[in-house]
Amino acid sequence: MRLAKYLAHAGIASRRKAETLIAEGRIKVNGEPVLEQGFMIKPGDQVEFDGQYLHSEAKIYILLNKPAGYLSTVLDPQGRPTVIELLGDIAERIYPVGRLDFDTEGLLLLSNDGDFNNKMIHPRYQIGKKYQAWVEGRIENHSLRQLEQGVNLDDGPTSPAKVRVLQRKSDMTLLELEIHEGRKRQVKRMCLAVGHKVINLKRSSFAFLDLQGVDSGKYRHLTMNEIEQLMSLAANVNTNEINRRV
Ligand code: URA
Repeated sequence: MRLAKYLAHAGIASRRKAETLIAEGRIKVNGEPVLEQGFMIKPGDQVEFDGQYLHSEAKIYILLNKPAGYLSTVLDPQGRPTVIELLGDIAERIYPVGRLDFDTEGLLLLSNDGDFNNKMIHPRYQIGKKYQAWVEGRIENHSLRQLEQGVNLDDGPTSPAKVRVLQRKSDMTLLELEIHEGRKRQVKRMCLAVGHKVINLKRSSFAFLDLQGVDSGKYRHLTMNEIEQLMSLAANVNTNEINRRV
């Protein structure tokens, strides 16, 4: 998060006033004065204003192994179970990073860091996600190639994906799909577009994170190193390349 934004969040000043405080040399990060307006605050940085340490709200980053039968929202007007109920001992108000469908299981990140949440789901950053999908029937090679190259959905063609067959049974196939987009019900719609209904869907990874050691319905906190790596994945995107594409 940019330093001025951090100062505004900590309730010190408006963002514009915070820029003045930075320019006046009244802000230190980890003991060093910072005059650079674009300075980025990382998790764990100690920020001082006129010699006083600031406390922004504690940031929480969770990796949950979502079971089927939970909504990826904070509150459901219809009273269905939400993923927040699985995090009973966390006092902070946290939000899912994107969504998994009610019947989809697997890796879901949650955080109260809005900047982190936005970066993780922003199409610009193209973070890779892997899904394991049991689909009806035996899938032909040409359908696999179609899924890889992109299929036409009602909201436009999908970007190239990596697809492999993990298991075949007489009447169903287990696929692994790696996609970089996050459209609504995307995997189910992609599979249906090549004639295969998804019977069961699980997200097995998000960027370099997987579900190892986290049983269904359980969660763990991300490590500082993991948070920084995720943020730098987003920061390392070549925006010139993106600007040419859009
Ligand atoms: N694709 C889907 O179809 N559903 C999900 O929950 C996630 C990805």
